[in-house]
Amino acid sequence: MKELSKTVTKTILTGIQPSGVITLGNYIGAIKQMVKMQEEFKSYIFIADMHAITVPQESNLLHENIRSLVALYIACGIDPNKNIIFIQSENEYHANISWLLECNTPFGELSRMTQFKDKSSKNNNFCAGLFTYPILMAADILAYDVDFVPVGIDQKQHVELTRNIAIRFNKKYGETFKIPDAYIAKEGTKIMDLINPIKKMSKSSENPKGVIRLLDNLDDIRKKIMSATTDSDCKIIYDIENKPGISNLINIYASITGQSIKEIENYFANQNYGEFKKQVADVVTREIEGIQKRYYAIINSNEIDNILSENINIVREIAKNKFITMKRKIGLYR
Ligand code: AMP
Ligand code: TRP
Repeated sequence: MKELSKTVTKTILTGIQPSGVITLGNYIGAIKQMVKMQEEFKSYIFIADMHAITVPQESNLLHENIRSLVALYIACGIDPNKNIIFIQSENEYHANISWLLECNTPFGELSRMTQFKDKSSKNNNFCAGLFTYPILMAADILAYDVDFVPVGIDQKQHVELTRNIAIRFNKKYGETFKIPDAYIAKEGTKIMDLINPIKKMSKSSENPKGVIRLLDNLDDIRKKIMSATTDSDCKIIYDIENKPGISNLINIYASITGQSIKEIENYFANQNYGEFKKQVADVVTREIEGIQKRYYAIINSNEIDNILSENINIVREIAKNKFITMKRKIGLYR
């Protein structure tokens, strides 16, 4: 077993779909939390590429996004010495375990998944994998006997399904799986769209001017911040209701510098919006410049391949053992 550079007792696992370049919102709302959690838990973080193909993907782009996401996470501070980072599709036991679980999951229970209902109602040409996806997610989790699964609230129902699947399997075949808990982060800072600050900054936004992606050109990032929507009141005060644009910029500044909202209001009390935006742009571009430097230093290096190759052996072994145990219990052996 790889020795992680920390002493921990509880294990977490989370998967991230490689669907496009992550945003400043993802960074502030999710990745910075994961960077903190890596100190307290043994953690598995994988690129959920098999989940990504439940909706149509362009092959070349998907291929690029997988490696790019690994590099970006490391560049953002996910430490490969403290996390086991791997690519889901490189561990074939996830799909193998998933099939055994599929045959032990009632169709009716799966039909209640709200994400499936949402996604399938938008496009009636969906594939069967979109329906069975939560069982693959259960396989991802149950293979590793983890304690907690950090996810956004939208994935809570899938973790509950995972628990039900595990409890039922343990009852039918004897103790096989640890029962995991969802770990829903406390409402972190929500970063809003720069052009329409009452809408969340989102990877899939139609107006690129409102969204900062971590691999955007630094001059473009500066321009986006300088032209962020504000108001005509000219006071740098935190008031989400009446001043959503300025409050969003304060939140961004606070999350990156670690300063409190009060400190920021005091510091900028006598400055105008132009000066304030310039300083927000300074801290954001400085932070992202660091991330990009680390990203471009590793994206084409052997370091990524070395990490992934070492880790895949570790996780294949763990998942393989779980698969063999399950097969025996089910009666699938000679
Ligand atoms: P998504 O991009 O929707 O798949 O979300 C991935 C993670 O990033 C989840 O934990 C979200 O809660 C978080 N996240 C996404 N967008 C934002 C945002 N604008 N502000 C804060 N957190 C976000
Ligand atoms: N379904 C998750 C999402 O869309 C990604 C994911 C796949 C996942 N497998 C997982 C998250 C296992 C946590 C644990 O965001």
